Amino acid sequence: LTPERYPVRRLPFSVVSEDDLATLEQIVPGRVITDPEELEAPNVDWLRTVRGSSKVLLRPRTTQEVAHILRYCHERNLAVNPQGGNTGMVGGSTPVFDEIILSTALMNQVLSFHDVSGVLVCQAGCILEALSQYVEERGFVMPLDLGAKGSCHIGGNVATNAGGLRFLRYGSLRGTVLGLEVVLADGTVLNCLTSLRKDNTGYDLKQLFIGSEGTLGVITAVSILCPPKPSAVNVAFLGCPGFAEVLQTFRTCRAMLGEILSAFEFMDAECMKLVRFHLGLSCPVQESPFYVLVETAGSGPQHDAEKLGHFLEQVLDSGLVTDGTLGSNERRIRMLWALRERITEALSHDGYVYKYDLSLPLDRLYDLVDDLRVRLGPSAKRVVGYGHLGDGNLHLNVTAETFCASLLGALEPYVYEWTAGQWGSVSAEHGLGFKKKDVLGYSKPPEALQLMRQVKALLDPKGILNPYKTLPTHA
Ligand code: FAD
Ligand code: MLT
Ligand code: ZN
Repeated sequence: LTPERYPVRRLPFSVVSEDDLATLEQIVPGRVITDPEELEAPNVDWLRTVRGSSKVLLRPRTTQEVAHILRYCHERNLAVNPQGGNTGMVGGSTPVFDEIILSTALMNQVLSFHDVSGVLVCQAGCILEALSQYVEERGFVMPLDLGAKGSCHIGGNVATNAGGLRFLRYGSLRGTVLGLEVVLADGTVLNCLTSLRKDNTGYDLKQLFIGSEGTLGVITAVSILCPPKPSAVNVAFLGCPGFAEVLQTFRTCRAMLGEILSAFEFMDAECMKLVRFHLGLSCPVQESPFYVLVETAGSGPQHDAEKLGHFLEQVLDSGLVTDGTLGSNERRIRMLWALRERITEALSHDGYVYKYDLSLPLDRLYDLVDDLRVRLGPSAKRVVGYGHLGDGNLHLNVTAETFCASLLGALEPYVYEWTAGQWGSVSAEHGLGFKKKDVLGYSKPPEALQLMRQVKALLDPKGILNPYKTLPTHA
């Protein structure tokens, strides 16, 4: 897939030799994978849009093993692709050529949890859902949640600065990650794994690695602040007659639900068709042009239900919402969330997916979807819009039976220019990886790009860490 679609040339890294394999085998005995069948899946991304040709995957268990691997690869000029759960959306997690895949799958130990502060310290390869379960058993929740929770690793989440479904409530990982342990390209272990809430001693180096997509270092452990588990959770799934009403519903929600509002997600009618058609889910409300999922999370079941009741009365009476349903038990909450969370999965059954993840001013958030429906006409199978409305984040997806270069030409650079024209971001939460690296300039000035290159050169002078990712190909 990769070479035909994306013009990219292999950089002059060394090629893994038999001697290299023997040395790596000494570093991680029995955990050097060279079986082509086992290498098939880690060479292809979740969306099945890019494919690498790595011949080696390593499964370290400890930070020292990662350090040893990188020290060796640095000396030998071997390129390395860090990989977590391989659920990334921008082709950052798979090799482009023959980079060695360094998987965190076996680095899955919780190191400590403090049941007063809620600080969790764990290895980078812990699966998000496993961590959620671990902290929930102790009365806390993870500050992030996403549809890929069953596969993604916390290290991958931090490396992509994943946003997700709880961002509205708990904010960015840039705030909730308290410390990181990172192995630098030359094998140096940078231990900034503090659990402190406040620490103004010099530059906050961990921020460099949050969202750096494996290009500046390999994250080996994470210290993260978990909020207390809310004792009352409610979900309302609502139908809205237009996007203007979606926005007004959000405004009303913030005013009336205040501190208990924990998520505000939206999806259009095309998304509902997708999850019905491909996954057999059923729409719990009257068919509408738009749907909104509102979640509240608080500590007083009666208080929260009362507040939500008043809010519903208000939006139904004023015509902002035409129909709605509530969920307060776990099963129904899960069922309502599935309608929103499983859109990505449904899209992947619809054909080739052109995926855009944009930050836009709320007022203009849906205009691009309408505009593209007209612009693309029947050349697109479907044009859909959904996302984290409460965060100003639109997921704009276009599907076609198969990849089509002319459709891509109609989408790009149009979508990026449109977004830049609104002072938006061309990647709100998925990062740039391999597929979006050349559009960084739409959202950042040349001076910022130059400084990013200098940071990369400082931390990884040989460029062995996740080459061909994040930074644009040319200056
Ligand atoms: P991978 O995909 O393996 O890697 C992603 C990037 O991080 C790569 O560049 C890789 O090299 C790097 N990396 C991985 N581990 C490390 C490490 N230990 N050290 C350094 N670099 C590393 N994203 C959102 O932001 N919000 C969502 O709501 C959301 N929902 C999703 C729903 C679905 C169904 C899917 C499939 C994906 C979704 N994503 C979402 C995409 C998201 O980026 C990832 O799911 C997640 O954060 C990536 O974690 P991962 O472990 O799979 O990382
Ligand atoms: C989501 O919010 O569902 C994810 O970011 C994945 C996607 O954009 O499809
Ligand atoms: Zn998202």
